[in-house]
Amino acid sequence: MPAFRPPRDWDAVYAAADGYHFGEEPSQLAHTALGFYRLFNGPVDGLALDLGSGEGRDTAYLAKAGLNVVARDVSPTGLEKTRTLLGRLGVPANRVDLGVADVRDFDYSPGTYDLALAANVYQFLRPEEAPAHLARLQEATKPGGICAVGVFSPAMTAWGAETGDYFSATADELLAYFPPSGGWLPLDRTEYWTYRPENAMMVSFAYVVARKESKS
Ligand SMILES: C[S@@+](CC[C@H](N)C(=O)[O-])C[C@H]1O[C@@H](n2cnc3c(N)ncnc32)[C@H](O)[C@@H]1O
Repeated sequence: MPAFRPPRDWDAVYAAADGYHFGEEPSQLAHTALGFYRLFNGPVDGLALDLGSGEGRDTAYLAKAGLNVVARDVSPTGLEKTRTLLGRLGVPANRVDLGVADVRDFDYSPGTYDLALAANVYQFLRPEEAPAHLARLQEATKPGGICAVGVFSPAMTAWGAETGDYFSATADELLAYFPPSGGWLPLDRTEYWTYRPENAMMVSFAYVVARKESKS
């Protein structure tokens, strides 16, 4: 039984998938983030960012809910499948700005996004480079907006996963990037471990959703 080793070539993963590798339903992180967006902001009509958008399940979910979405991923196949999904769901093409980009080169304009989502993408950066990009995502979140980040939790290396030189954080370590003293209201802190039958081992992830407090 091969140990879990995160793919490096996501384009090949998406091209080989039978349908959508991660399915078409939104991630738990996007679902939680949109729930809090609605709670604080009421009507869903702002601008969202989906970094590392993959095959577009979260982009489609956020756009269908009424947000305009900027979606970026390094995988052209993922973006092509996103286009297909959006068309099938009847999402107006002008609601989503899709593009190939490495998160390290992304132009994070400060104070731009009502909902800034990075679902399991910063874990593919090196440990010493990921925190700076997380800080840029936070900076790009509008005051009053929601920032949502998910990464690998390091527990899985103890079970035998080979995560190599990737960034990981426990839920508490991730939460520490969102201190109330820095203007953050933490809304959700989740760490989950789930059994992956194809690798016969547990894998683990950490999520944080936080609101950037409005400047008074
Ligand atoms: C685990 S998948 C998550 C996809 C999507 N967020 C979801 O939940 O369905 C990780 C995604 O990050 C993308 N990715 C990895 N490194 C990246 C980078 N440096 N810049 C942009 N995207 C990257 C991959 O192509 C892949 O689509």
